[in-house]
Amino acid sequence: MLEVEGLVTTYGMIEALRGVTLTAREGLVTCILGPNGAGKTTLLYTIAGILRPRQGSVRFQGQDVTALTADRLVRRGLTLVPENRLVFPAMSVRENLLAGAYSRVGDGRAAGLADVERMYERFPILKARAGQLAGTLSGGEQQMLVVARALMGRPRLLMMDEPSLGLAPLVVEQIFEIIETLNREGITVLLVEQNARLALAIAHHAYLLEQGRVTFSGSPDAFGADEVISRAYLGTR
Ligand SMILES: Nc1ncnc2c1ncn2[C@@H]1O[C@H](COP(=O)(O)OP(=O)(O)OP(=O)(O)O)[C@@H](O)[C@H]1O
Ligand SMILES: [Mg+2]
Repeated sequence: MLEVEGLVTTYGMIEALRGVTLTAREGLVTCILGPNGAGKTTLLYTIAGILRPRQGSVRFQGQDVTALTADRLVRRGLTLVPENRLVFPAMSVRENLLAGAYSRVGDGRAAGLADVERMYERFPILKARAGQLAGTLSGGEQQMLVVARALMGRPRLLMMDEPSLGLAPLVVEQIFEIIETLNREGITVLLVEQNARLALAIAHHAYLLEQGRVTFSGSPDAFGADEVISRAYLGTR
């Protein structure tokens, strides 16, 4: 579904990505782990067309999309849920959801409204809060909303940047259950997480990113079996 090859992304003199190569296979959950400042967000931004790489390429569904803008990628089904939970604060929950359907040009309002109903079934809390201004939702509710809004665009590849950040354990569990369900329903997921245990529990393949480079690629089991890595990222001996 996604093939990233030799990505180099810089901020002025800072080389945040130093030649990153990875793939996300169709139908699977791929996770990217790594410490603060490793370049995880930079990587997702570069794939999503928000940042331009200095070198390297991004292929999506067999086509080179390196030069495409973010909105064109969304139209093709590549959607990023960024780390900071940007809802439209002065719009209601329902309006936020409808805004998520903007990429489906020509689909019509009825289809959008039907999908809003589907999101209410999947996220009952959003139905209860439908008329509330999104800026007044709790952190967990806002995370549900940004995921639901992303789903309104019917993505094929859903990229998520640290969905668990700052949320209570119970809410985190809910979010991860939702990610698993979405994946079972056919959405390919590329998940960035600092919470390695959680991510490995639902991932089929794991990458470790350190200082802008991929330093591990393998199954979640292999990740746990590597002594040095598991000591650093899983806190085990
Ligand atoms: N806008 C920017 N201007 C300059 N440097 C930046 C910018 N954004 C990120 N960086 C630098 O690029 C490197 C990678 O940052 P990035 O945000 O991608 O890391 P991350 O792995 O997502 O970290 P975290 O886990 O803290 O979210 C860091 O050294 C950071 O300081
Ligand atoms: Mg980040």
